[in-house]
Amino acid sequence: VVIYVPGDAAAVAVGADRVAKAITEGLARRGIEGRVVRNGSRGMIWLEPLVEVVTAAGRVGYGPVKPKDVEALLDGGLLDGAGHDLRLGDVETIPFFAKQERFTFKRVGVTDPVSLDDYLAHGGYKGLERALALGPSDTVEEVFNSGLRGRGGAGFPTGIKWRTVAACAPGKKYIVCNADEGDSGTFADRMIMEGDPFQLIEGMTIAGVAVGADMGYVYCRSEYPHAVIAMNKAIQAARKAGYLGRGVAGSQYNYDMEVRVGAGAYVCGEETSLLESLEGRRGLVRAKPPLPAHKGLFGKPTVINNVLSLAAVPFILSEGAKAYADVGFGRSRGTMPIQLAGNIKHGGLYEIAFGVTLGELVEEVGGGTFTGRPVRAVQVGGPLGAYFPRALFDTPFDYEAFAKKDGLIGHGGIVVFDDNVDMAKQARFAMEFCSVESCGKCTPCRIGSTRGVEVMDKIIAGVEREKNLAILEDLSHTMKLGSLCALGGFTPYPVMSALTHFPEDFGRGPVPLA
Ligand code: NAI
Ligand code: SF4
Repeated sequence: VVIYVPGDAAAVAVGADRVAKAITEGLARRGIEGRVVRNGSRGMIWLEPLVEVVTAAGRVGYGPVKPKDVEALLDGGLLDGAGHDLRLGDVETIPFFAKQERFTFKRVGVTDPVSLDDYLAHGGYKGLERALALGPSDTVEEVFNSGLRGRGGAGFPTGIKWRTVAACAPGKKYIVCNADEGDSGTFADRMIMEGDPFQLIEGMTIAGVAVGADMGYVYCRSEYPHAVIAMNKAIQAARKAGYLGRGVAGSQYNYDMEVRVGAGAYVCGEETSLLESLEGRRGLVRAKPPLPAHKGLFGKPTVINNVLSLAAVPFILSEGAKAYADVGFGRSRGTMPIQLAGNIKHGGLYEIAFGVTLGELVEEVGGGTFTGRPVRAVQVGGPLGAYFPRALFDTPFDYEAFAKKDGLIGHGGIVVFDDNVDMAKQARFAMEFCSVESCGKCTPCRIGSTRGVEVMDKIIAGVEREKNLAILEDLSHTMKLGSLCALGGFTPYPVMSALTHFPEDFGRGPVPLA
């Protein structure tokens, strides 16, 4: 019997390791020959630990399983997929899962993440194979034609970035993967690294071949120890099998890579401070230009992409640019792994083509709030993203549509709040977050955020409200236009959106939103 118990950090946090141990011991006690595979998470976090058994009719799921459930499950259900109170049936038919378009997450939760054989058995390395057949410049064009845009948040066309690096004179070049996933409510990068690390390795290898870089680094935040372990195991296996190192996959191209662990600064997710940190210095933002594509790591041309951008590449190469570009909305092509978090009933990872509305995501997919109270606000795009009220729930998930409403989709994180939220306190939190995480290089962010906290304290205390609100607006304007990077420049988004959409929380009007 083969039983899958997720080794994903979210499942482990709710007892998956203890469940796996109880199953292994239970099988041994019964003298049953069985294998417990630690897969990634299917992304339905409220069902974790979600245990699956392989049956003739497919994989049958049970969840959420507690260690104390295991004995009863082994005696009735788990071994043959039969009935039990926790039985979910074929997990791929659960509506949350069935409605998705899993391009980037197709193997996550399905395979053994650190088994190269399993990766190959599920279509792994087909993208690299095609890239090697196409050659570097056609590979870059394939990525360009897919319409893939940077999934870190800015949405810059990945193909143009790759073209820029490919066009630099031959010599030392680097691939850097930004895995410093610091946004509140985001976990997609972690799930890829823990649940399908070979896919990221393959994407980075394709990038290396395409632009002429022979070395890559994954800059992973220290809060992701499980991801670091999975990535290192997969890198070793790929190297041993000839997919990394000299002559990757028997070709004339050399490419190798390593993982580097950050030290816990949010600003190190900003690409230039990430490069500083990777070079061994404090994570201080660099002025652009020069762009990292021209002068990046150690002053060399560097492709720096988010985990999700690079992890989308194997699909684009193996299935063709058209298959990716055929889905989407407007200029946002392909799929977005959306992360539903905060006060939400069905939180988790939901990969879908761009264009789904915010309301569908929160109310239908997510099932509304966990507390059962009405949704009041939704923050999209991390701590620097705008708060959206229900009145904006018809906004399609798309870079341009969100920008038009003074918001951003960022890295695809959605954090839900019910009607108990105090939006003035949330605005204060945004300023406080910026003051704590500021790298200190530029004045609007370093000083502005501290003054912002003080002004918010006065507004909350009801001291000269209108005067202080005018100061807050002026300060936000200065930070937005005068900051060197997105940390200071985007902090006004949560602040101003809270004030615009929820003025009553700032003492400006008595009408609470329905
Ligand atoms: P940006 O717009 O300056 O640049 C986007 C990317 O395109 C960068 O990699 C830049 O080097 C590259 N680029 C721009 N012009 C280029 C050209 N002509 N040729 C080649 N490459 C070029 O945006 P930035 O400052 O890198 O990121 C801001 C975004 O980051 C925000 O929109 C925000 O959503 C997001 N963000 C994401 C976070 C996360 O945890 N994922 C945290 C904070 C912000
Ligand atoms: Fe540093 Fe803030 Fe200026 Fe960015 S905006 S460079 S984090 S001080």
